[in-house]
Amino acid sequence: MSCNTCDYKLKEATVIKTEKLCRDIISLRIKIDKGSLKFIPGQFIMLSIFGYGEVPVGITTTPDIKDYFEVAVRSVGTVTRAINRLKEKDKVGIRGPYGNGYDIKEMHGKDVVVVAGGLGMAPLRSLIEYAGNHKKVFKSFQILYGAKNPDEVLYDHELFACDNFARTILTVDEKKGYWGGETGLITKHINKLRITPDMRVIMCGPPIMYKFIIPEIEKFGIPDEHIQILLERRMKCGVGKCQHCTFGDKYVCIDGPVFKYSDIKDNLEAI
Ligand SMILES: Cc1cc2nc3c(=O)[nH]c(=O)nc-3n(C[C@H](O)[C@H](O)[C@H](O)COP(=O)(O)OP(=O)(O)OC[C@H]3O[C@@H](n4cnc5c(N)ncnc54)[C@H](O)[C@@H]3O)c2cc1C
Ligand code: FES
Repeated sequence: MSCNTCDYKLKEATVIKTEKLCRDIISLRIKIDKGSLKFIPGQFIMLSIFGYGEVPVGITTTPDIKDYFEVAVRSVGTVTRAINRLKEKDKVGIRGPYGNGYDIKEMHGKDVVVVAGGLGMAPLRSLIEYAGNHKKVFKSFQILYGAKNPDEVLYDHELFACDNFARTILTVDEKKGYWGGETGLITKHINKLRITPDMRVIMCGPPIMYKFIIPEIEKFGIPDEHIQILLERRMKCGVGKCQHCTFGDKYVCIDGPVFKYSDIKDNLEAI
């Protein structure tokens, strides 16, 4: 275990744009009042709402943008409900960035497939935007994304615009009138991906998605060390001090939140 960034300092920041992505998810564009945020796709911040508390959330924009960053937050409880009420010009507090982020070096020159389920698209959007700006880094790029229904598909207009560097398969569990894309669970569409044995698989979604997808991917002979998954746990400190986020000998806040599947597969508490 190592504490890669023991920076507790709260940075003051301002919400400069808000957008409802769907019924219970808001996207916030945030500008740090003094300075900027240096991060890697897959890292997270602790976002404070004064008078309510703070929560860990992933960063959804590419690190290539220096002036601001964005987060997407689902309203599930006290703090996230307050976040969903934020308006332009509101002040917030930021700690971080924390955690390791996706191992992009591991993806250099490789076929990469990104698998996202639901709000798992939020941190992966950062990697996808990065890939769009650095096409030559990757041999090929594919996106497989599943949402519950068409209303809950996040960033769909952007995903359709990725066709100059990525092949995208979008599916919903429940079809609604206007949906012209794929239907059914993500697992149903794995065989539509161009899978190569040396491929890197980068995932973010609910634990149940990992449980079903990983065995399917392993059938293609992709080794467990080539699979990166993002785990979530309740967090307090974000920097390896409070033990709220531990499973086995791992701390999600500093050893993760991104783990190679080979490093956690034998830990029953992991997924
Ligand atoms: C590394 C990391 C990245 C995250 N990124 C995002 C993100 O980009 N967008 C986003 O909307 N959320 C994200 N989360 C989850 C988010 O932090 C929780 O939803 C939030 O802490 C809930 O706080 P609350 O006060 O609103 O809810 P509470 O009132 O504390 O709880 C409300 C409900 O949410 C459940 N809950 C609380 N925390 C978690 C958690 N960490 N995982 C699962 N269930 C939880 C509780 O059990 C309860 O049922 C992330 C979590 C982690 C650890
Ligand atoms: S959140 Fe405190 S140790 Fe990880």
